Amino acid sequence: MGAFALALVIILSACGISEAGEAPGQNSDGKMGMHDDSMNGNSESPQGGEMGMGGMGNQHMDHDDVAALDSSSGDNELNIPPVLKSDSTEETKYTVRAKMGETEIFDGTKTQTYGYNGDFLGPVLQFEKGETVTINLINELDVGTTFHWHGLKIPGEADGGPHNVIEPGEEDTIKFEVTQEAATLWFHPHPDGDTSEQVYKGLAGLIYIEDENIKELDLPDDYGKNDFPLIFQDRTFDEDKQLNYDAVMNEDGTVGDVSLINGTVNPKLTVGQEKVRLRLLNGSNARNYTFKMNTGDTFAQIATDGGLLNEPVEMEELTLTPSERAEIVIDFSKIDDERDVALVNDSDDILLPFEVTDEAAAEIDIPDKMNQFSVTEAEKDLPVTKEVELFGMMDMVTINGKKFDPERIDFTQERGVTEVWEIYNKPDMMGGMIHPFHIHGAQFKTLSRDGEAPPRNERGWKDTISVSPDETVRLAVQFNDKGVYMFHCHILEHEDNGMMGQIKVE
Ligand code: C2O
Ligand code: CU
Ligand code: CU
Repeated sequence: MGAFALALVIILSACGISEAGEAPGQNSDGKMGMHDDSMNGNSESPQGGEMGMGGMGNQHMDHDDVAALDSSSGDNELNIPPVLKSDSTEETKYTVRAKMGETEIFDGTKTQTYGYNGDFLGPVLQFEKGETVTINLINELDVGTTFHWHGLKIPGEADGGPHNVIEPGEEDTIKFEVTQEAATLWFHPHPDGDTSEQVYKGLAGLIYIEDENIKELDLPDDYGKNDFPLIFQDRTFDEDKQLNYDAVMNEDGTVGDVSLINGTVNPKLTVGQEKVRLRLLNGSNARNYTFKMNTGDTFAQIATDGGLLNEPVEMEELTLTPSERAEIVIDFSKIDDERDVALVNDSDDILLPFEVTDEAAAEIDIPDKMNQFSVTEAEKDLPVTKEVELFGMMDMVTINGKKFDPERIDFTQERGVTEVWEIYNKPDMMGGMIHPFHIHGAQFKTLSRDGEAPPRNERGWKDTISVSPDETVRLAVQFNDKGVYMFHCHILEHEDNGMMGQIKVE
């Protein structure tokens, strides 16, 4: 059997399709990991080396088209993660423990989960630009893990990549200076080959960076009142309401039908008739989310992965691929409150219903000049010096034809020097899929998408960029610090399957 035929067989088995073309249900409610169209298209088993490509189209690869999410009933008030207190009043010093826990996600049942300093997910860590932060890292899991600071520009040795494994029961301390501007970042584990499962079970937390600029701007910033973090994840629970990763793992990206926000199933959020800031993180292993209002109202995007946009960008909808963040502001004083108001996805599944109270607050005027991000002429003129080709699917994913090798350095770059990286997503015979491309230790500028200027809401600092099949994206990348950093696809199963390389910054 050729590699391609093998790939098809793997896909078919991942879809849960038997030789006879039956689609056995995975869950008690008969929901599958893929939606119905993919069943139809794949219902014949391919034989031998000759593949009929008809109907294979984009069913299994297109993550906008995977398992539908159950709409939120709005039964539970959204969980708001705690803000972690510094261990010291003099300096910013945190202790972060990765631990096992039990969480009552569904009433009356305990789900085995992982969390940071708690049973599930993690607290918000607050940093100030310019300060030195010390973090004590403790691994109370029964497996090795790392603590990766996604989006932080810090030395490679503190970055928590696969080389920084902390064994069960062990601890470590990192110390670094916060050199970058206000942004919403996040942290999660990164052990080679085991990132997907650890994130899936609940290891993810947020980082808020503040700076002088943002403190002076009139933005909603009352945490848990008009400024909310929203961590979007999709999961599959078994009959006992457990997260059985091995049972549902898909080499091409594990998706689920249950939508969790901040770990809350069927969430709703109570807001006043005012401008509300939502800090969105796509914390899923593989699912892409397209967010919009069910009322058709627009919202303003104010920040990208790594900082504020120069001005608010009015959006009808917004797509985030895994690990991307965006901050948006919704004006609930302008939305017709006779209607049910909710954040929905592009299939109109209800992600987050809002309960809008009568409470009105002082009017906040979002400034039209928020930041000073720019792409210089010199940066536009730089030649491409790093080429990255993303290719493949399932467990055959590669970067520049290679799989991750912890012993191999793929690129080198000088610290403080900007280079242009050209990322190309090479389609395969099935058409291919979006790969969210992420670089550690840097915030980059998007120069172009297929030669065109990026959309207005991507004209800000990014650390992850979605690259569609056959698309070429150019990035201006600079590192502040020295060390070895990963670059990879942020579909976590692709990362674990080796769609990752290493750059040494000297
Ligand atoms: Cu979100 Cu390699 O990381
Ligand atoms: Cu990262
Ligand atoms: Cu990928």
